[in-house]
Amino acid sequence: MRHLMSPLDFSVSELEKLMSLASDIEKNPEVYAHKCAGKKLATCFYEPSTRTRLSFEAAMLNLGGSVLGFSSADSSSAAKGESVSDTLRVISCYADICAIRHPKEGAPLVASIHSGIPVINAGDGGHQHPTQTLTDLFTIHSLHGEIRDLTIGLCGDLKFGRTVHSLINALVRYPGIRFVLISPEELRVPDYIREEVLDKNNIPYVEVEKLEEAMPELDILYMTRVQKERFFNEEDYIRMKDFYILDREKMKLAKENMMVLHPLPRVNEISVEVDDDPRAAYFRQAQYGVYIRMALILTLLGLEE
Ligand code: NCD
Repeated sequence: MRHLMSPLDFSVSELEKLMSLASDIEKNPEVYAHKCAGKKLATCFYEPSTRTRLSFEAAMLNLGGSVLGFSSADSSSAAKGESVSDTLRVISCYADICAIRHPKEGAPLVASIHSGIPVINAGDGGHQHPTQTLTDLFTIHSLHGEIRDLTIGLCGDLKFGRTVHSLINALVRYPGIRFVLISPEELRVPDYIREEVLDKNNIPYVEVEKLEEAMPELDILYMTRVQKERFFNEEDYIRMKDFYILDREKMKLAKENMMVLHPLPRVNEISVEVDDDPRAAYFRQAQYGVYIRMALILTLLGLEE
């Protein structure tokens, strides 16, 4: 039995396979429409979500399976004091696979220890978000053709943004990747990522504060929301929240074929006027998230062949 806690749980060649399955699903959805008949996906969400939970549910429904779950800690027995480990042990009796999101770093890992079914980390605190990374990789792969020789700008809350942490971890395994880390001083990438992931793998990167300066050299701009819920006090959040706003003027500085990604939800960091720009790929990215989650469910259930 296999779980997904970090994007590194899959090798690069396994990721290749997963993405080619997702591409096939995109092209031939009818072939997969009943693959999970009789199977159930549980979604256990202790933190707010729109895309991740609903794209998991859509993925399972597209495969002919069914879904059950809860979408807030208040509506589960966590409110009575139950541990995630006990909850998952019990859910293993009701479902065949589970996606769990939790505000505490490491909670999905703890949940997986006594689980009788595959557990997928759907986001744990400020730590990791591997299925968003699968979505991001599949988007780059689909729109760009391959994942190599890219200058990737990661912009916004690089400190608390779990999507950024997972994405960096995953991308350092591809050839010719260079990062431009764009953030205010207070929201820089955590030291452990700089030292253990970037430096250790000899990955070229620069850290800058000004988005305008970075724009002309980027092949991909990955925008992120300032993670309000992870701030210790509101004043700091208010000071930081509009630090970056990508608008039409700034898009003029970018390459003609640059791609703008964002895990969404967006707050103010991308002005709506950018949505019509052909380089804005964030809504397509959300669609790719369904195909890759379908491929993931099939793979973890051993139904991919
Ligand atoms: C992200 C998350 O939950 O970390 N959202 C998502 O799953 N698409 C990004 C965010 O909330 O800013």
